Amino acid sequence: MSTDNVTPWKVEGFVDYQKLIQKFGCEPIDGKLIKRFEQVTQTKAHCWLRRGIFFSNKDLKEVLDDYEQGKQVYLYTGRGPSSEAMHLGHLIPFMFTKFMQDALDAILVIQMSDDEKYYFKGNIEGKPVEYYNRLTYENAKDIIACGFNPAKTFIFSNFKTLGGELYQNTVRVLNSITGNRIKATYGLDLNCTNGQLVWPSFQCSPAYSNSFPDILHPTGEYSDELPDGTKTYNGPHIRCLVPMAIDQDPYFRMARDFAERFKGEGYLKPATIHTKFLLSLDGFSSKMSSSGEAPILFLTDNVKLIRKKIMKHAYSGGKPTIEQHRQLGGNLALDVSYQYLLYFCEDDVKMKEIAHKYRSGEMLSGEIKAIMADYVTKIVEEHQKHREKVTPEVLRHFFNRNRKFDNSRKEKEPIELETDEVYNTYGINFDRSFGAIPSLEAIQYESHNGW
Ligand code: TYM
Repeated sequence: MSTDNVTPWKVEGFVDYQKLIQKFGCEPIDGKLIKRFEQVTQTKAHCWLRRGIFFSNKDLKEVLDDYEQGKQVYLYTGRGPSSEAMHLGHLIPFMFTKFMQDALDAILVIQMSDDEKYYFKGNIEGKPVEYYNRLTYENAKDIIACGFNPAKTFIFSNFKTLGGELYQNTVRVLNSITGNRIKATYGLDLNCTNGQLVWPSFQCSPAYSNSFPDILHPTGEYSDELPDGTKTYNGPHIRCLVPMAIDQDPYFRMARDFAERFKGEGYLKPATIHTKFLLSLDGFSSKMSSSGEAPILFLTDNVKLIRKKIMKHAYSGGKPTIEQHRQLGGNLALDVSYQYLLYFCEDDVKMKEIAHKYRSGEMLSGEIKAIMADYVTKIVEEHQKHREKVTPEVLRHFFNRNRKFDNSRKEKEPIELETDEVYNTYGINFDRSFGAIPSLEAIQYESHNGW
């Protein structure tokens, strides 16, 4: 298994996440870190943390230390609007970011990289700048529908927002990076357009808090007014945490290197937290992707269509005949329905029951698909209800910068912590099959058939 198959623009074949952690210099998320998260934020860990789906990080510990000391932190994530609708895979980092926003009571900035999509798709698709800018607002409806706090969230189109301090930071990053470094990190070369070559610096700059002084530093040390009426923020920075899938990590390695070099000027290394990819429905790729061959579950699909796509295409880890299946059971690691349930069925008791019944052959492929379809359609249905409520006024609110953002932090009710034995089973140690083990006969059959 290779790790060169994961870049911000393509994910090919199967991904070895343990190797990626090493290659990208990340830390796995273990039970100790999850305990610290619960202790400091007084928030029960999301099941995606417990189950090792958000599996890797850099400096999450530093974010928690800052939070514990009463310092502000902020969140940054983004979307490259390349299609009318987002798909179920895109929902994962955004739903998790919403969870983190509540846990850390933090301001969130969301970059809609319409310029990135123009650079990388405009020539191929023959579409103009305006097309990708319009997709920004369409996709933002899906993002807002995740329930972000309107008083703590700023969404921006890169086309419309770059300027001022954000642009100054972009220029600083641009000026610190050589073409050779871009080539080595992203595999881009001199056949690429200028736009493509400079793009990475544009994704880095929102990870520094002085890019948004009006939002993140409404008070503090400012310079005297300049002739155009602006002032420069000279105070301390606050730490940024970036939730995303692991394909976006190269940008933040670069952003961290820049911060290390310019720490004397107050720059802090952005922290990161990574999810694994929601795999493609047909199980042939580690990542559901709009540019792949497999059928996509779009968030705008009607639920009947979603159910149909699942029942028809979800790759089954079941056996070819009912008799064989009853005898040997289903392979949980290969079964797309089971893997999706790990994301969308939060109830561990229910998951354990499904795992045991399916692994033993008591539950058939069609049955586990139908259960998964119920969970997924419920999530999409809920999502669509929230999306309908995103009126033009709501949309305008999230894109409007000239308002007061809520920098306050609320007191939280204390929560009861688990024992260390329980935490030891979380994160990288989580048993994704809930104790359901295949029979010897099933192991022999599955390895013989290349499973
Ligand atoms: P984009 O639009 O390709 O993807 C948006 C976010 O979704 C994640 N993602 C997935 N997560 C789980 N399972 C999947 N199958 C899946 N497919 C995509 C991506 O990793 C990303 O987190 N360049 C970025 C946009 C961007 C950005 C950022 C992302 C701009 N600034 C800061 C993260 C952080 C892009 O094109 O993402």
